[in-house]
Amino acid sequence: GTVVLAYSGGLDTSCILVWLKEQGYDVIAYLANIGQKEDFEAARKKALALGAKKVYIEDVSREFVESFIWPAVQANALYEDRYLLGTALARPCIARGLVGIAQQERAAYIAHGATGKGNDQVRFELSCYALCPKIKVVAPWRLPEFYQRFPGRRELMDYAKKHGIPVPVTPQTPWSMDENLMHIRSGAPVPSNPHVQSSPLHIHCVPVKVTNTGDGATRSSALELFVYLNDIAGKHGVGRIDIVENRFVGMKSRGIYETPAGTILYHAHLDIEAFTMDREVRKIKQGLSLKFSELVYNGFWHSPECEFLRECIGRSQEPVVGTVRLSVFKGHVYILGRESPRSLYNEELVSMNVQGDYEPADATGFININSLRLKEYHRLQSKVTVK
Ligand code: ARG
Ligand code: SIN
Repeated sequence: GTVVLAYSGGLDTSCILVWLKEQGYDVIAYLANIGQKEDFEAARKKALALGAKKVYIEDVSREFVESFIWPAVQANALYEDRYLLGTALARPCIARGLVGIAQQERAAYIAHGATGKGNDQVRFELSCYALCPKIKVVAPWRLPEFYQRFPGRRELMDYAKKHGIPVPVTPQTPWSMDENLMHIRSGAPVPSNPHVQSSPLHIHCVPVKVTNTGDGATRSSALELFVYLNDIAGKHGVGRIDIVENRFVGMKSRGIYETPAGTILYHAHLDIEAFTMDREVRKIKQGLSLKFSELVYNGFWHSPECEFLRECIGRSQEPVVGTVRLSVFKGHVYILGRESPRSLYNEELVSMNVQGDYEPADATGFININSLRLKEYHRLQSKVTVK
């Protein structure tokens, strides 16, 4: 049969391509451009040279930003309080492309190079099954005939050499690599330019415009804006983290991430949201975001519950419009101020000098009633401890 392989151009998926052919499959290679630094034409040539029947290279970076990153920004999505989900968000986007090609080519199979111990296998496969229930997945790293033949990198390299697959000369990093628009490759040089950049960023439910006060240039398409923020925040070392996280399959793993634009947008969005959203709506929305982040991490983007959450969260964003002024400096994002036509901040109401529509005497009763329960609790506590 025909199999559409999620191809990266790297060692693993190149070996998998050849191995699938050996098993009798016709292989179509699918490479999604989601903003990784890659020589796509070289990858195309390589896949064809290895015997792929066809190669599809699809630029889905705009879709990635608008349909996957923007909902995550709206949610303030964060996994285990720190991870901005760069890899997790890309998987359902790539899966959508894979399924599209499989349907177009009438391929019965989809294959990927994710290991049997990670999150990515779950994310790819849940997304593929959700979007195309009849599809069959081939996951070589979970097939004994594959992993017993390639128990280590050594065997994979030998196989590559034997089949004319170029073998990387750089030593393997001790952590797994993954690069896209949302999280760029880590290990970039230390910030070299200590110059402060301050830019107004405009949000109308989603980020819409950023102006650089340095050169006066304005970026207002989603992709352009995101790439610009990555560039400027990346230079200042914004959004680098080293964490240990819990994988869905049960073990803890170390992650080193660099998410410059994602980090700026996280802070900017949080700020304008706090400024414009009702307090109680915000609390409920915060609970939804926690659930949303977990679903995204675990691979359930294309699930009814996750669709439901995106709708609810999207609905909550109706008042979230305005402009945040911020600067990036030495690895940090500094919020300098905000403006919004939907601001709920009432200077008169909060002022110490003006009474506004607020009667200070009313606060006495407010405190009395609220203290009732506390007084009762401690009255009882002291009785219990005396005995
Ligand atoms: N730990 C990250 C996650 O599960 C991904 C790490 C990137 N590496 C990779 N091979 N996908 O989302
Ligand atoms: C994977 O999900 O396949 C890799 C996970 C990780 O590196 O944490």
